[in-house]
Amino acid sequence: MTNHTQSFEQGFLFDLDGVIVDTAKFHFVAWRRMANEIGIDFNEEQNEQLKGVSRRESLLKIAEWGGKSLDEDEIAKYMHLKNEWYLELIETLTPADILPGADLFIKAAKAAGIGIALGSASKNAVPILERIGMLSLFDAIVDGNHVSKSKPDPEVFLKGAEALGCSAQQSIVFEDSVAGIEAAKTASMKSIGIGTEDVLKSADIIVSDLSEITITKALSLL
Ligand code: BG6
Ligand code: MG
Repeated sequence: MTNHTQSFEQGFLFDLDGVIVDTAKFHFVAWRRMANEIGIDFNEEQNEQLKGVSRRESLLKIAEWGGKSLDEDEIAKYMHLKNEWYLELIETLTPADILPGADLFIKAAKAAGIGIALGSASKNAVPILERIGMLSLFDAIVDGNHVSKSKPDPEVFLKGAEALGCSAQQSIVFEDSVAGIEAAKTASMKSIGIGTEDVLKSADIIVSDLSEITITKALSLL
């Protein structure tokens, strides 16, 4: 996760998909294709429940929506298939897919001496950050390969704050998912929701993207 001991007074913990990079739409397309394959369909509103959730938990939720029970072999097969389709969709990812303001905001936070961590459920996080040229901005990476519990469990953010050497009270989570905002709350961390008020109502501040918030405004939550 990190190669050295570090200690930041304040930490910003960023989700990846839908906060830093415009990949949430590709997860939706690939999951819907997967669901249709087994005779299930779901809409964008239901998809909000899949955001931030691990690959396995997402598949189990979809199966439940369709009233299907899957054995372990089917679970492994469908998770693999969905990921193959997702990887095809993100093959052409470039820095142009960085969401508005994300790189400037993270660079400004870094320049202000704030610790920067990734807190993502995705097992594809590192190659994606490499492809959009943002990997080196992170002081710590906690992703789907480092956690055993899916958001809304707070594990990913608690590990992120620990890797930065800062307390939960001095950490702010940036999230586009309902599960992620709930995880931040359970971790006793402030949260900034990236999206719309109707979906992310329990976040402390809600903006449509990171170009709409300043470091000063974010820090005013602490
Ligand atoms: C989260 C996404 O960031 O990562 C979810 O919001 C996704 O949609 C989850 O299912 C796991 O991602 P991956 O890349 O490991 O399948
Ligand atoms: Mg997300």
